[in-house]
Amino acid sequence: MNEITVFIMGKGYRVPAGLTIMKAMEYAGYRLARGCGCRGGYCGACATVYRLPGDYKLYADLACQTPVQDGMYIAQLPFTPAERPAYTLGDLKAEGQTLLALFPELARCVACNTCTKACPQKLEVMDAVQASLRGDIRGVAEFTFDCVSCGLCTMRCPAEISHHHVWQLARRLNGAYLTPRAEHVQTRVAEIAAGKFKAELDKLVTMTKDELVAAYKARQIEA
Ligand code: FES
Repeated sequence: MNEITVFIMGKGYRVPAGLTIMKAMEYAGYRLARGCGCRGGYCGACATVYRLPGDYKLYADLACQTPVQDGMYIAQLPFTPAERPAYTLGDLKAEGQTLLALFPELARCVACNTCTKACPQKLEVMDAVQASLRGDIRGVAEFTFDCVSCGLCTMRCPAEISHHHVWQLARRLNGAYLTPRAEHVQTRVAEIAAGKFKAELDKLVTMTKDELVAAYKARQIEA
């Protein structure tokens, strides 16, 4: 087996080459109770910082997506801190100043682009900051659709912007107020509320597992 040496919280371990940081930590005996979620690059829970031999830079990435390298120094973060103001979505309007009013630190952006460089999802984070400042809520929601809220951009931001919390609010406002309603969904919800499927649903909850499997296999599939 091709092994390499990594240093986890300062202690050296021999681990198979090709593992992700997360798997290397587990191979070394760590039991991850925090800093680990989906293991697939979606939840943003595994933000990790590391350094490489002969390189002065401090790198940060998702542990479940980043392969180990020989001589890597690894330190996991229990969480990435970020301020999030309390708000009630129903009291807000999807308009120009809403994001800036709740997150005034947006105005401190110095356009250094550090956030974009820090993003493991390769999102155009600084463009989303600029869209926030312009009050372009839909633009922010679209720029940040793939954000996993790992907080690595926030950790590096000299203006202390809580990026992922801003994006989350923009996506909520976009979903609640700006996105057109899907008419077929509204029709179906009204049909359910009117009891159109009640007899069928009542029957389903009384069926055994085998009856459910048979009914599922025999279901009508739309063309
Ligand atoms: S564990 Fe979910 S993104 Fe890494």
